[in-house]
Amino acid sequence: KVHEATVSAPVNIAVIKYWGKRDSALILPTNSSLSVTLSQDHLSTRTTIRASPDFPADRLWLNGVEEDISASKRLVNSITTARKLREALEEKQRKDGIPAESVVPLSKWSIHVCSENNFPTAAGLASSASGYAALVSALGALYDLPQSTSELSRVARVGSGSACRSMFGGFVAWQAGVADDGNDSLAVQVANRQHWPELQALILVASDRKKAISSTAGMQTTVETSSLFAERVRTVVPQRMEAMKTAIANRDFENFAEITMRDSNQFHAVCLDTYPPISYMNDTSRAIVGLIHAFNAARGRIAAAYTYDAGPNAVIYALKDDMRDLVELFTFCFPREESMLADAFYPDPFGVF
Ligand code: DP6
Repeated sequence: KVHEATVSAPVNIAVIKYWGKRDSALILPTNSSLSVTLSQDHLSTRTTIRASPDFPADRLWLNGVEEDISASKRLVNSITTARKLREALEEKQRKDGIPAESVVPLSKWSIHVCSENNFPTAAGLASSASGYAALVSALGALYDLPQSTSELSRVARVGSGSACRSMFGGFVAWQAGVADDGNDSLAVQVANRQHWPELQALILVASDRKKAISSTAGMQTTVETSSLFAERVRTVVPQRMEAMKTAIANRDFENFAEITMRDSNQFHAVCLDTYPPISYMNDTSRAIVGLIHAFNAARGRIAAAYTYDAGPNAVIYALKDDMRDLVELFTFCFPREESMLADAFYPDPFGVF
């Protein structure tokens, strides 16, 4: 009598950053954002959900270790929202005249959730985005929900904002929306992965330590204290969203890359303008910024872009041919063994994925 579904969801890396909420309970953002979903091979979460009338309670295992499911309000919110959609579906099936015994009351059964990352959680790489996207996709499959992926992205959003963008592959916009209930705050696909196959991402792990200030806490302080932030939300991001969509539509790497770097820089500037200030990048991160600008200057064009989230690790975007040279450059500039030895300069482990 056990029903089961398994789904994997990848990590996404924003090129226009989400930072700031206008509603913390529903996770409604102050601005729209745009990201690239990475391939599932390296960074993804695989989630299996089983439902049975014999399970006495909901349970959760993360990477094989059981966690207290009720301790996470966000997790409970996501599951409850998905259950309500299933309840509505069962109601509809009964109304449509499907015999009661054929309507499986899945919404009433407890679930067991097993979630595993194919990357070390300690690496400080976003795991909540792929985690919630996998959870919601698996619930959607288990419950046979009729909602579109965009509609389901709202359920992932109440788990973690950036998770709504991991519901799609390729290039994804999270529209901030204006509605108080969050009905129009959802993810839409701007272009699929095949639209721009030459574009590649490289992740440079500048530190595998856990970040000091979580995104959730950090962005709240920014909203409350930064005056630069208000300007970013009001004028900069709306214009960049449009310019970025155009760059993607035209496969215009130079514009894509410049907007990406400028938006990462502004996001970190806004973090420094937060009071007390938040600083996510470290010396290694800043060395990489310098290296990318030197690389672009040497090429006489913008051939690579960096972007940083709420941590020191870099994500580099480049077209395939340039990426080959970049990997060589990084391996030369940051040899693994030496960077571990040169403690004063590069205090953190450094690896190239
Ligand atoms: C810097 O989605 O982790 O990565 O909604 O509170 O869960 P919550 O925050 P989260 O924030 C991600 C912030 C970011 C930028 C981005 O991914 O757009």
